[in-house]
Parts: sequence; structure tokens; C-alpha cells
Amino acid sequence: MASTSNQSVYRATTTAPVNIAVIKYWGKRDTTLNLPTNSSLSVTLSQRSLRTLTTASCSAEYPPADTLNLNGSPQDIQSSKRTLACISNLRALRKALEDADSSLPKLSTHPLRIVSENNFPTAAGLASSAAGFAALVRAVADLYELPQSPKDLSRIARQGSGSACRSLMGGYVAWRTGELADGSDSLAEEVAPASHWPEMRAIVLVVSAEKKDVPSTEGMQTTVGTSALFAERAQNVVPRRMAAIETAIQNRNFHDFAEITMRDSNTFHATCLDSWPPIFYMNDVSRAAVRLVHDINRVVGRTVCAYTFDAGPNAVIYYEDKDSEIVAGTVKAILGPNTEGWDGAFYERVANVTAGVSL
Ligand code: ADP
Ligand code: DP6
Ligand code: CO
Repeated sequence: MASTSNQSVYRATTTAPVNIAVIKYWGKRDTTLNLPTNSSLSVTLSQRSLRTLTTASCSAEYPPADTLNLNGSPQDIQSSKRTLACISNLRALRKALEDADSSLPKLSTHPLRIVSENNFPTAAGLASSAAGFAALVRAVADLYELPQSPKDLSRIARQGSGSACRSLMGGYVAWRTGELADGSDSLAEEVAPASHWPEMRAIVLVVSAEKKDVPSTEGMQTTVGTSALFAERAQNVVPRRMAAIETAIQNRNFHDFAEITMRDSNTFHATCLDSWPPIFYMNDVSRAAVRLVHDINRVVGRTVCAYTFDAGPNAVIYYEDKDSEIVAGTVKAILGPNTEGWDGAFYERVANVTAGVSL
């Protein structure tokens, strides 16, 4: 809930989790509304290690422009159409509340001040834009005391960063492409809560905390414009995989979940390599992690772990708690922080955490 620290400053603080897709979003059919070319599905990670913390405040006494400070640096939001779109959508919803109830303070007329901090590398392929825009939308929605559901708010977060629409919910979350030109049906929805599959775990291996050379937005535009593989993945491969992984999740079938996850990561990175000029997100250490996962599965004689890579070199490995020792133990021993090429490692469990927790 929003709170007032003195007579005229209103404030709300929230945290939001990252989500790591197992069927990747890569490609926009509308860059203004940020509409995707394919549906995607992700797992929301707990906020124990990776989270965004955002405070939104507003006051009639603030200087006139809205501001955003990220990790201690002021951001130029006037040139960020996507941030402006999120703010103007949220402000319009607040204005509608104020028009309907004249006793409400006119917060929609106040400048906004947003201060955000990620406790993990920003723009390094660890979904900072997902946690970041989910937290921004949630914090401003709380400040404005908006009644909209996470699904409704996902429509707004999507305009900040596509993957952000999936971070407003916990567990297993699908982002449906939608069909309407105005994007009103391009929303995130929970496929299963985290409690449906409590054994699921994720380990996040930070190969590099460096900012990536090619931001996601730019990379996917290059792929859409130049890759011949891209249309095949978006139109034919992903729809089949979406259906199959949803069945695997419903049945808690780790073997199928894992194989589809690994194959989709590989297909996504193949479309990056097929772009012109080619885009390389994975590096030698990433490929060592791929080999290690296949080796572990072969030696154990069943599929106990699955890798996936976002637009960056960092690996996320999914496994079930019963296989912790063999998976987390082997990965830590072989690709641990002392290995050449690693910046360090985060360890995560999947939990049913939503972004809506106001502090
Ligand atoms: P990532 O792989 O980390 O998601 P992207 O290239 O998709 O990388 O997006 C990184 C961009 O997301 C940052 O440069 C910044 O503009 C935005 N971003 C990241 N964190 C936040 C945040 N906490 N609040 C607002 N915007 C953020
Ligand atoms: C590889 O959501 O960061 O992580 O919508 O342009 O901000 P924009 O892109 P973004 O792209 C994420 C790409 C991905 C796959 C995924 O999260 O589904
Ligand atoms: Co991103």
C-alpha cells in the first residue's frame, strides 16, 4: 500500500523476481507496443538472491519531470519510449480512479520519482529488464492504489520489456502472443503455481557479470530482419514446444521439461548465430556448461538436469531437489568460482514468489 512519509510525499516500495524462460521470447511483430512473434514460457525464481528493489514516490512539490534512478545513476527516461509508455498507462489508470472519486488525492498530477536497484548484474543476460520493469510497474501501481490484477498489469509491464510481463506472477508463467493489433490480448498468465512442482530447483551460474555487447531489443531486431531460421522457429517450432512443455509441467515430467528446455535454448542461440552479422551470446565457458549437463545426464543414465541461456553467456540449470547432490555438487566442483573464466556463482531455488510484495 502507498504510504505518506509527511504531508505531501506519497511512496510505495516493492521487490520483483527474475524469470528465466524455458521457451524463449525472441522477436517482435510490433516494436511500438512490444508485441512478440511467438509465445514464451518461464519459471519465476525466488527472490532470495536475485531481485529488483524499487521505490516509487510522488509529490506536488517535486521538480516537474518524472525521474528514474537505476543502481545509483540517473536515467534519461524522456528518451526511453518504453518507460514513458509504462508510466503514462499507469497514470491514466490513476486518473480514472480520481475522476470517479473526487475525494482521492490527485496523485496523477504529481511528478514521479522512481529509484531502483538490482542486486545482480544489470544487462548481462540475467533478466534484469524483466525484474526491473515488473518492479517499476508494481511499485507505481501500489503507489496509485490501482485495483488491476497482475494479468492486467502484465499488459503494461510488457511495454517496458517483453520478459517483464512474466515476472508479475510466480511459478510457471506463459506469455501468449495474442492476436489483436492493439496488443490487448498479449498477456502473461500462470500455467501452474510453484507449489505444483515443489522439487524444481534452478542454479544460476554467472559466467560474466559484464554488460552484453548486443542488448536484447537490438539483437532480436537483427534476428527478425536477417535470419532465415527465425520464421521457422517462431511459426512452427515454438507452438509445438509450448504445448509439449505445458503438458510436461502439468505431469511434472522432468525428462520432457528438460529436453524441450535445452532444445529451445539451442534453437534460440542458433537463430542468433544465423543472424547477419551473427550474434554470439554464449562463450566457451557456456559451452563447457552445456557439455557438462549432457555428460551428467549420460553418466547418471537419465535426464537429471537441463541448461538454458538467455541473451548472455550465463547458464541457468534446472534440476529436481532429489538430484541436488549429483547436479549442484558436480557443477560446483567442475565449474565453480575457481574455474578459469567464471566471475562467480549464484545459487537459486524456484519458489512461488510474486512481485506484488510491498515492503
Ligand atoms: P537483461 O538480459 O539484463 O534483461 P536487457 O538488454 O534485456 O538485459 O535489458 C537491460 C536494460 O533493462 C537496462 O539497460 C535498463 O534499461 C533496463 N533495466 C534493468 N534493470 C532495471 C530496473 N531495475 N529498472 C528499470 N529498468 C531496468
Ligand atoms: C533471451 O524482454 O529483454 O531473455 O522486450 O526488447 O526488452 P525487450 O527484450 P527482453 O528479451 C528477453 C529475451 C530472452 C528470452 C526470454 O526472456 O523469453
Ligand atoms: Co532483458
